[in-house]
Amino acid sequence: MPLYLDKNENPFQTPKEIRDAVAEKISGLMFNRYPDPWYPSLKRKLADLAGLSPESVVTGSGGDEILAMIFSRFVRPGDPVLTFSPTFSEYYRLSRMAGARHITLPIHMEGDEAVFPAGPFLEAVEREKPALVLLDTPNNPSGASLPSSFIGDVIARSESFVVVDEAYGEFADSTFLAGFSGKGIPDRVIVLKTLSKAWGMAGIRFGWAYCGISAASPLEEARSPFNVGIFQEAAAEIVLDHPEFPAISAQKVKKLRESVRQCINALEGWKAFRSDGNFLLLRIPFPEGMVRSAAEEDFCFKFLGLTPETGNRECWIRLTIGTEDEMAEVLRFFSLLGKKS
Ligand SMILES: Cc1ncc(COP(=O)(O)O)c(C=O)c1O
Repeated sequence: MPLYLDKNENPFQTPKEIRDAVAEKISGLMFNRYPDPWYPSLKRKLADLAGLSPESVVTGSGGDEILAMIFSRFVRPGDPVLTFSPTFSEYYRLSRMAGARHITLPIHMEGDEAVFPAGPFLEAVEREKPALVLLDTPNNPSGASLPSSFIGDVIARSESFVVVDEAYGEFADSTFLAGFSGKGIPDRVIVLKTLSKAWGMAGIRFGWAYCGISAASPLEEARSPFNVGIFQEAAAEIVLDHPEFPAISAQKVKKLRESVRQCINALEGWKAFRSDGNFLLLRIPFPEGMVRSAAEEDFCFKFLGLTPETGNRECWIRLTIGTEDEMAEVLRFFSLLGKKS
């Protein structure tokens, strides 16, 4: 069985009692009926989780579907869309599909972490007047979080919609969303969340957004009425009653993330950058045949490309943090490669 460390999934299976409760609930559902298109009980749980109102919540079949809804509602061909680069691959794909003018500002990896070009980004917000700004924090793939003060500056200068994508928020020490509990999300802001990462339910496909007042109703309009099926709804409702599960799995991942990072940094010429996500960005010397030997040993990593400045002698990898045993396997493989490079 290949070791999937390429999609930033949670390595911990959903606890059996949760899976059993989901199975039991599903078997009692009316398969012949559509779900309630307003998902009232699910929205209440999601609202309570963040100390926000149910009216601010929009549900989706994964965060990906919410992003697609955002693009379909707020981006027209030729509209500027502003992001950092690199960023989540869906932002590039959706910009392309929408015919948007995707403007990217490059992140640089320096020392131990990512450096975001904050000043030029704010200038671009004012100059380009983007229809949509997308900020993933922690950023995929660098793992770095954006300071809430910077996000606040982007929102203050933007005349349109700003997405704050906190898919990996549970793995960070602090989040932008936490600052709005009991207060409400600022107007034109959409905070994206998912069950796919710390909640360990990528296969279920459920994501949601907390939206400021002028984003919520256009997004509800863009949402097809029964976009979340009864199985997704049932599983989400049950797991949301167990916030200890994402908290415990995030705690384990965070601890392991740091020790794996240190082990990788001890290898000659290898670099693992500091991360707030459930993954690490690595810059490594590129030994001949590396991709092949990873595949032969059944390791699936996300290869992000070569570094042309070094004559392609280095490559970039995004490594998902797995279980302790899986990470021991990966470190064994890396240390063998480290000797070759
Ligand atoms: C930054 C970011 N946002 C959103 C998502 C979407 O996740 P999902 O569609 O599984 O909810 C991902 C998935 O990898 C991601 O990396």
